[in-house]
Amino acid sequence: MANIAAVIFDLDGVIVSTDEFHYLAWKELADAEDIPFDRADNERLRGVSRMESLDILLEKAGKPYSDALKLEMAERKNAIYRGLLERLSPADILPGVATVLDGLRQRGVKIAIGSSSKNAGPILEAIGLAGAFDAIADGTHITRSKPDPEVFTLAAHRVGVLPEHCLVVEDAHAGVEAGLAAGMRVLAVGSAADHPSATLRAEDLSAISLDAMLGTASA
Ligand code: BG6
Ligand code: MG
Repeated sequence: MANIAAVIFDLDGVIVSTDEFHYLAWKELADAEDIPFDRADNERLRGVSRMESLDILLEKAGKPYSDALKLEMAERKNAIYRGLLERLSPADILPGVATVLDGLRQRGVKIAIGSSSKNAGPILEAIGLAGAFDAIADGTHITRSKPDPEVFTLAAHRVGVLPEHCLVVEDAHAGVEAGLAAGMRVLAVGSAADHPSATLRAEDLSAISLDAMLGTASA
């Protein structure tokens, strides 16, 4: 198998634990609108863009919403979410991330972000990793959200590495599918670790060796 020359990390749920903030913000919006919404519903929003997330949330709404109202609701959710993000600090970086990033840099492997979020820039600033990646592809650069491969294809292009030499790290089923559709190998972590088609699986980045990630482990 081809060597891995770049690792493309999803951001929310892989690098940083913003998941709870997304849930709390959607929950506040849903409660204000009297729409049922729980943590199981929230799982379906992983990796999905803001507007598509709202469409999923509105599946349980008792009335139709106009496009203008939907835009206002998405902005309201984002304002709540941005308020919660003010609490974010390097302490919210997930287990194993710092060690894996250092190890990849030492081995000369390119590292990139491939995220559906339009808040990736401020989040990376808040956790002190703004300058840590060779390239960033996020929700502000793409037109099609995961499971479409666009964000990963763009990240690979930005680090100048062919898809077959890329490994994607994802915590969302939609993200695993996006990585595979891009022709890349995928390490599924957290909520995606049960995905049957993932190339590799681990609870989080502290639970897998660099050799296993890069396919350089001796048998
Ligand atoms: C993804 C999250 O990373 O970004 C989704 O997993 C979220 O839950 C999506 O909806 C879009 O985020 P944002 O920050 O642009 O609203
Ligand atoms: Mg994620």
